[in-house]
Amino acid sequence: MSNKQFDVVVIGGGPGGYIAAIRAAQLGFNTACIDEWKTKDGKPAPGGTCTNVGCIPSKALLQSSENFEHAGKHFADHGIQVSGLALDVAKMLGRKDAVVKQNNDGILFLFKKNKVTFFHGRGSFVKSGAEGHEIQVTGAANETIAAKHVIVATGSNARALPGAPFDEVNILSNDGALRVPQVPKKLGLIGSGVIGLEMGSVWRRLGAEVTILEGLPTFLGAVDEQIAKEAQKAFTKQGLKIELGVKVGEVKNNGTQGVTVAYTNAKGEAQTLAVDKLIVSIGRVPNTIGLKPEAIGLQLDERGAIIVDDLCRTNVPNVWAIGDVVRGPMLAHKAEEEGVAVAERIAGQHGHVNFNTIPWVIYTSPEIAWVGQTEQQLKAAGVAYKAGTFPFMANGRARALGDTTGMVKFLADAKTDEILGVHIVGPMASELISEAVVAMEFKASAEDIARICHAHPSLSEATKEAALAVDKRTLNF
Ligand code: FAD
Ligand code: NAI
Repeated sequence: MSNKQFDVVVIGGGPGGYIAAIRAAQLGFNTACIDEWKTKDGKPAPGGTCTNVGCIPSKALLQSSENFEHAGKHFADHGIQVSGLALDVAKMLGRKDAVVKQNNDGILFLFKKNKVTFFHGRGSFVKSGAEGHEIQVTGAANETIAAKHVIVATGSNARALPGAPFDEVNILSNDGALRVPQVPKKLGLIGSGVIGLEMGSVWRRLGAEVTILEGLPTFLGAVDEQIAKEAQKAFTKQGLKIELGVKVGEVKNNGTQGVTVAYTNAKGEAQTLAVDKLIVSIGRVPNTIGLKPEAIGLQLDERGAIIVDDLCRTNVPNVWAIGDVVRGPMLAHKAEEEGVAVAERIAGQHGHVNFNTIPWVIYTSPEIAWVGQTEQQLKAAGVAYKAGTFPFMANGRARALGDTTGMVKFLADAKTDEILGVHIVGPMASELISEAVVAMEFKASAEDIARICHAHPSLSEATKEAALAVDKRTLNF
């Protein structure tokens, strides 16, 4: 075994891995984190998909593009005249890159602060034995290190359409979608899931004509139906063309001539979509490239995900796995929570992740956010429930903002009044959902929220009013 021995080695420095490493170090373990992501000039860029080509850059571009849309379309409503409005895409992308770099540097700082040893390179399993696990690091650092415990947090990669590999020029994954150098005249997207809607919104706001082709007949099937319908109405009004129930056929990359997509529409008619760029956002696949799981007999499922139990234990003793590379929702905060929980379990504590209260947010405009069960899930499970909704149209702060689309919806147990789900489509839904998460963690009833004093005027009053609506006693609607 190498003389570089650690209590805990984390492979992967995304939100799952870097947070796991920090928590392990806080708990007193001699901890290392290996991450191979690098900048264009080869420097370490920890933070994984989330920081480099996911959550952070997409939110930076969503904000910039929303500002552009507001300046062009909505400032006039406030009596602000804008003339000579112009777009500098290079500067917008540069700002996004600077935001990413702040986050990369922040993580390197946090490693130092918490005394986590950082290795910039790829981690591959060599062997496992009674003394622990041996890992080969290759890249900027080249050495073999050993660990008593290993936490695998190697994340996921974009799924390509068969026969249409990503070239990141014409056929784009999330990576290329975040650095298109000029606004395409026509942009196509395959998949109207989270990435399809967020990236479609960015480029539509900046002037692209956007068409999204979705295989399923239902829009946002996992979202509460009433909320999904409201969102679909808003997106369609904004000019996003969303075709549901299509079957995508041959995708041709025509170089400088763009991309053509042959597909069959919901009526069974053969169609062709010709676009300048195509974003393929049809889900992600767990990533174990270069990890050499076979070297220690680590078991993967048929999707390539590392098999873990409820506590994130793999089949190999003291090898744990978290985040996108294992089952469950592919969300940064889910990965983080698993990272913290595993570090605490290694320390003999009772780390816990409550999968029933993981919030989801889609950062479109209006934003969509939810926690807990949807109305259709409750119906399918035969649970007796009460529903209460409150529209932002009746909320003073939303009117002042000029953003009255959408509603807050509460679902509560018919007998006990316990909150079973909260669903929001509307302004700042991403922030408003936290109150619902706290309420559900504390097993609150709808009445509990209805009786809590909420600041006026605030969007959160819509949350209180939706809770009141469960008992049919809204005050402002
Ligand atoms: P990752 O973030 O993928 O990190 C894995 C890291 O491991 C990478 O740095 C990789 O280089 C490294 N690695 C892999 N193999 C090795 C190896 N053998 N050796 C060394 N290093 C290795 N989630 C949200 O919650 N909110 C959002 O707003 C959101 N927006 C998103 C937007 C987009 C466009 C995309 C694509 C995803 C978004 N997600 C969002 C999902 C989120 O990014 C992931 O759920 C999250 O990054 C998963 O974290 P992770 O730590 O499991 O893996
Ligand atoms: P997704 O699972 O959200 O959506 C994929 C969509 O593509 C689905 O609607 C699916 O029916 C459709 N689809 C699949 N195959 C298809 C085909 N052959 N033809 C047409 N449609 C097809 O996946 P997406 O958008 O790629 O995002 C991946 C994951 O990244 C998300 O599930 C989420 O976990 C994470 N993410 C989270 C964000 C957030 O939290 N705000 C933002 C972006 C991504």
